[in-house]
Amino acid sequence: MTGFLTFLGRRWRRSQAPGAPDSTKRYGQAPGAPNPAARGVRFPDDGFLWGAATSAFQIEGALDVDGRGASIWDAFSGESGETGDVACDHYRRWREDVDLLAELGVNAYRFSIAWPRLFPAGGGELERRGLDHYDRLIEALLERGIQPVVTLFHWDLPQALQQSGGWRSRDTVERFAEYARTCFDAYGDRVRCWVTQNEPWVHGILGHYVGMHAPGQKDLRGAITAIHHILLSHGRAVQELRASGRDGEAGIAFSLFPTYPATEDDADREAARICDGYHNRWFLDAVLEGRYPDDMTRLFEERIGTLDFVEDGDLETIAADNGFVGVNYYSRGAVRAAPGKEPLPYEVVSARELDVPLTDGGYEIAPWALTDLLVRLRDDYGDVPILITENGAIYDDAPHDPGRVAFVHDHLGAVHEAIEQGVQVRGYFHWSLLDNFEWALGYAPRFGLVHVDYETQARTIKDSGRYYARIARANALVDPGGAVR
Ligand code: FCB
Repeated sequence: MTGFLTFLGRRWRRSQAPGAPDSTKRYGQAPGAPNPAARGVRFPDDGFLWGAATSAFQIEGALDVDGRGASIWDAFSGESGETGDVACDHYRRWREDVDLLAELGVNAYRFSIAWPRLFPAGGGELERRGLDHYDRLIEALLERGIQPVVTLFHWDLPQALQQSGGWRSRDTVERFAEYARTCFDAYGDRVRCWVTQNEPWVHGILGHYVGMHAPGQKDLRGAITAIHHILLSHGRAVQELRASGRDGEAGIAFSLFPTYPATEDDADREAARICDGYHNRWFLDAVLEGRYPDDMTRLFEERIGTLDFVEDGDLETIAADNGFVGVNYYSRGAVRAAPGKEPLPYEVVSARELDVPLTDGGYEIAPWALTDLLVRLRDDYGDVPILITENGAIYDDAPHDPGRVAFVHDHLGAVHEAIEQGVQVRGYFHWSLLDNFEWALGYAPRFGLVHVDYETQARTIKDSGRYYARIARANALVDPGGAVR
């Protein structure tokens, strides 16, 4: 824990960032090459965070308990037709789940606060029972030596705010700043690490353009506006943290998606660069360099008109005093040109078309691209501290899940490789602690280190959970071979 605080105190400087990012630059291993992970490699001894991650709506259930207000996800069911009504019943079973964290040997836990539990109407009156719930959770974690890493927004916007425009409305930024300030005042004596926003690309695009996530809209201008306001709310929250006088740092978690041209053709290289701009550079340039990339600004303006929702001073606010970058990494994309395709002229080649290893969810297993991504962040943006705030995969087997055991091993090898190359990675949070409600896909995809029987709510630690516990306790990438139990 002290190590983590030390790193947070050591400020990186934006002036270290080299010139324009080159998204087509390749690092490290070629696709298909063996993972560089050596056996038994050690992680930094200055308080590397070993964690597991969850989010409120995906695990809590109890949607009408203790005065919670409605969120945009409550009544939204995606293609699965399932909802988060019960989920893992964690709001009632949280003590048991803290015990599980202790059994997993982690020293950190990333969870999110449900905004509608604290402010049922989005703003205005504070619901004490909601506030007290997370207070008890934080206390219980600290008693077991587990550092709380708290996400403020993981997609469950109060429905009342959606009715007045949601993230497309600039007012929501100020409501978020007030909510964030309430959390800093209430918990900031114990919480030192805040994740303001989770994956603005996913919430912005899937929720406001593709329509497969709540609030289910299909409007590109609305999506890019929402993303801007979400980024601005990050900057406003950082300001509120400083104004609160609390120690600690606030960073933001991005869904980063390393892109590679599907062929060496110029058209595919350009396609990969655009895809990188859409998923990655739009966010990284804004938060780490205080500007939106010119090429993407042009492409967006051609489609949605001028970005007049970006006001003077916004980008300075977005970029000021960011504490760390949270990297959520699942897979990479092989990208090819697709002239005329909306919203942008590229397509990601389906992993099933490539001769590559796949998870049970059909995503390419590409640990080498995580090393590339981490090294690229350092090369393009300077020595920013990084937390791997999510990394994980769907595997159906339980409790014996050799696929996830190998996934954990190989991805931690990839993280270690980046650390060896001098990247400032300060912690790793596996997604997820528990099998849970996977948004539009419902309960079928299982991401947990711990299996959940949704009939009985019984929790069973999987082999991957026991393996991860050995790694966390050893602070080293121990061999998965032999007995993992
Ligand atoms: C990420 C989300 C997280 C979970 C994982 C699988 O995009 O942040 O809530 O759904 O994917």
